[in-house]
Amino acid sequence: MVEEGFERVCDVDDVPEHMPKRVVVGGRGVLLCRVDGEIRGVDEICPHKDRSMRFGVVFDGEIICPHHQYHFDLETGRCDRRKCPPVHVYEVRVVDGEVWVRP
Ligand code: FES
Repeated sequence: MVEEGFERVCDVDDVPEHMPKRVVVGGRGVLLCRVDGEIRGVDEICPHKDRSMRFGVVFDGEIICPHHQYHFDLETGRCDRRKCPPVHVYEVRVVDGEVWVRP
C-alpha cells in the first residue's frame, strides 16, 4: 500500500535503462529515471534555460540535459555547474511493479 498523496503514473517496466520516462504528475512533467535498480523522479524542465530534458541521457546516477549537457544528480537534484540551481526531485515509491509519485 502506498501512503496518501501519491499518484500512480506507470509500471516499473515502462522506465527504460538509459533514458527518462516522461509522466505527468499534478499537471507537471516529471522524468522517471533508473538508478541502480531504483526509480528516481525529477522535474522535466531544466533549471538552466527552462527547456525539457525528456530526451536527456541517464547515466551513473545523473540525468544529462540534452541542450548544454549539464549533469543533475538524481538523488539530490544538484547540478555539476556551480551557478545552476538544482532540479526538483520528487518522492517516488515502487509497489508491486507500479510507480507512484508525490506531486
Ligand atoms: S537547458 Fe539544460 S543545460 Fe542548458
